[in-house]
Amino acid sequence: VAYGQEKILRGEGGETHQVAGGDVPVLTTQQGVPVADDQNSLKVGARGPTILEDFHFREKIFHFDHERIPERVVHARGYGAHGYFETTASLADVTKADIFQRVGEKTPVFVRFSTVAGAKGSVDLARDVRGFAVKLYTKEGNWDIVGNNIPVFFIQDAIKFPDFVHSVKEAPDRAFPQAASAHDNFWDFISLSPESMHMVMWVMSDRAIPRSFRFMEGFGVHTFRFVNAEGKSTFVKFHWKPKLGLQSVVWNEAVKINGADADFHRRDLWDAIESGNFPEWELGVQLFDDAFADKFAFDVLDATKIIPEEEVPIRVVGRLVLDRMPDNFFAETEQVAFCTQNIVPGVDFTNDPLLQGRNFSYLDTQLKRLGSPNFTFLPINAPKCPFATFQQDGHMTMRNPRGRANYEPNSWGGEKGGPRESPEKGFKTFPEEVAGEMRRLRAESFADHYSQARQFYISQTEIEKQHIADAITFELSKVETPAIRSRVVSHLLNIDGELAKKVATAIRLKEMPKPADAARPTRTDLKESLALSIVKN
Ligand code: HEM
Repeated sequence: VAYGQEKILRGEGGETHQVAGGDVPVLTTQQGVPVADDQNSLKVGARGPTILEDFHFREKIFHFDHERIPERVVHARGYGAHGYFETTASLADVTKADIFQRVGEKTPVFVRFSTVAGAKGSVDLARDVRGFAVKLYTKEGNWDIVGNNIPVFFIQDAIKFPDFVHSVKEAPDRAFPQAASAHDNFWDFISLSPESMHMVMWVMSDRAIPRSFRFMEGFGVHTFRFVNAEGKSTFVKFHWKPKLGLQSVVWNEAVKINGADADFHRRDLWDAIESGNFPEWELGVQLFDDAFADKFAFDVLDATKIIPEEEVPIRVVGRLVLDRMPDNFFAETEQVAFCTQNIVPGVDFTNDPLLQGRNFSYLDTQLKRLGSPNFTFLPINAPKCPFATFQQDGHMTMRNPRGRANYEPNSWGGEKGGPRESPEKGFKTFPEEVAGEMRRLRAESFADHYSQARQFYISQTEIEKQHIADAITFELSKVETPAIRSRVVSHLLNIDGELAKKVATAIRLKEMPKPADAARPTRTDLKESLALSIVKN
């Protein structure tokens, strides 16, 4: 039978064999050996058994058996795209980061959007935070801004992260959270961790059910540092602002969409980029110095707090455009490895205890997930600028130093000696002065958990406020333990009395609890003055 150029033969058992010839290439094993028959394993006689000698069969099944790798421990479900970052304003005054020196210069990027809690095969429109991870392949190395679509986080210290994630993901006995969407464990953890209240308000808002990735903001969350050529440090917060503006669906739509098309967000990004509708974001920075940080009523090292834009306006310095889908989802989107510790000269960390913990976690988990310290050489992870290390060997080595030393210091100069340190160009840690006793106590400056939660709530429109009340009501209606429901309402009383009353009535709480113990009284009445509440008088 001829099908186009292809020859098709029937085997003795009636099976189909598509045969090479003309433009149709020959099928081979991974060793390059031509394959004669890909439909029948090697057997004794007509009806078996199958024999071990069949190297083609064994190779095919062996490779298939190893197709899966561990999914990410969080942010397992994600979708990415390539694009570029264009510098639109120089930041040379505050950072020596190469990417911000020349207006108009384009830097290649890879961006991965994700949900946090769901497994790799979960639905796109779950009520959840969205990851917004950007890898910038700069001329001085890869810089990852591993952010979310919400500017704050649930916890202040990374030591709480495993507990938080255990409470939100499926329970180890039943392998699903206790109810369809909300569940006791999550609300139990949240209600016992008042530091999460600000983030909870965002997660109960429409921000947690975005219309598409293209209509989401992104945030670096932590306070980072910029360091300029003179060695001066400036604190910085990163913001990605979508050109299309913000859009969300409502909960009823989210539920229907999840049922009808679990890949709704993926499809949207694919369709947009494939049809030439390239999504775009502005990069904005909030810049402030130590003096401002000291004046601020909250601690700038506390990832549960924002820096109000009224206090520190956003300076737009670039645009991010996504214009190409990956050729290979697994090779690129699955194997990409973002890490908060991937920074470049001109950028530095702060002592935010959440960031410090993340700096340890990503490399560690990726070694497990990707299986070899050589994952940095995969094309999606490798820098696009020249790089030269003394590292060698390990699983899946693809390159080793050749014709030059594999250690230093060494006596050989030139090519044989290999790369050398560069005191001028090399990354230098900002010489921040640190001193103090080693202790586990949380700083007092991290103690106000309600002011910004309240401020977020009162900044919402009436409809948005109603959505928040509806979302909390829906979630708490799935919580079986009365004490947990009551404890959540006790926190709401510290955020907004009306909201607490609305929720308590809707979930038919028998008795209004006392407001939760606020670790520190709030400084001023936020309803009277937004600005005053943020900056110490
Ligand atoms: C993954 C953001 C806190 C551990 C991710 C991803 C994002 C993200 C966007 C997905 C990266 C990708 O698309 O591949 C954040 C933000 C945080 C935060 C914004 C708080 C501000 C933490 C903390 C820890 C942590 C505190 C642990 C101490 C992880 C791990 C992964 C991950 C282990 C999986 C990485 C991988 O397998 O490649 N996070 N995260 N995260 N995060 Fe976080």
